[in-house]
Amino acid sequence: MSKKYIFDEALLRELNFEDQEGISFNNSITQNDPGENLKMRPLSRDDYNHGYYKLLAQLSAPGNVTKEEFESRFDEMAACSDTYYIFVIEDTNSHQLVASCTVAVEKKFIRGCCRRGRIEDVVVDEAYRGRELGKLIVLTGKKLARKLGCYKLTLDCSTEKIPFYEKFGLRNDECNFMVIRF
Ligand SMILES: CC(C)(COP(=O)(O)OP(=O)(O)OC[C@H]1O[C@@H](n2cnc3c(N)ncnc32)[C@H](O)[C@@H]1OP(=O)(O)O)[C@@H](O)C(=O)NCCC(=O)NCCS
Repeated sequence: MSKKYIFDEALLRELNFEDQEGISFNNSITQNDPGENLKMRPLSRDDYNHGYYKLLAQLSAPGNVTKEEFESRFDEMAACSDTYYIFVIEDTNSHQLVASCTVAVEKKFIRGCCRRGRIEDVVVDEAYRGRELGKLIVLTGKKLARKLGCYKLTLDCSTEKIPFYEKFGLRNDECNFMVIRF
């Protein structure tokens, strides 16, 4: 039987937002109350119909993915327990997704069989930018990675975005990012 959400929603609900970890919010928003007519929740198997690709297109080339392909990939990812933590913000009036963030957990043999977290695919819909949702999803991702026992959290970003991520205590490490694109 297919799962509705890609991970257990309780994990999001239980995050403690009393400590905002140095991030200043002008609006008192949290993962459980991201603002009027907005709801944060795990990615759902129905989200192809809720504008998920329209949102992802504002991040990178989304490709021509059919609903069946999306659902098949969703089922694969949901079956990998404790790995893909994708959460979104939905506008509850339009039922369209307006923000998304992924925390991917990689398990290792080193460091006493540790876990590391990666933040991926951070995006806020153009019409909703500047409302602190970017800060909210990245802080949520950071809290989630810590709760999941990751010993570190990393991400790749353009130089222009470094000041945004530095707000969360992330630092541009000496480690070089190397890539080959196929
Ligand atoms: C980056 C992004 C997620 C920010 O979302 P947002 O909801 O507009 O951000 P917020 O309203 O929470 O603003 C967060 C803070 O970062 C700053 N900020 C916002 N966008 C920024 C950017 N592109 N570069 C640097 N700083 C930025 C804001 O000024 C704000 O600062 P403040 O707290 O001092 O006022 C959004 O612009 C986006 O989706 N961009 C396209 C996709 C993308 O590039 N994703 C990141 C991939 S690494």
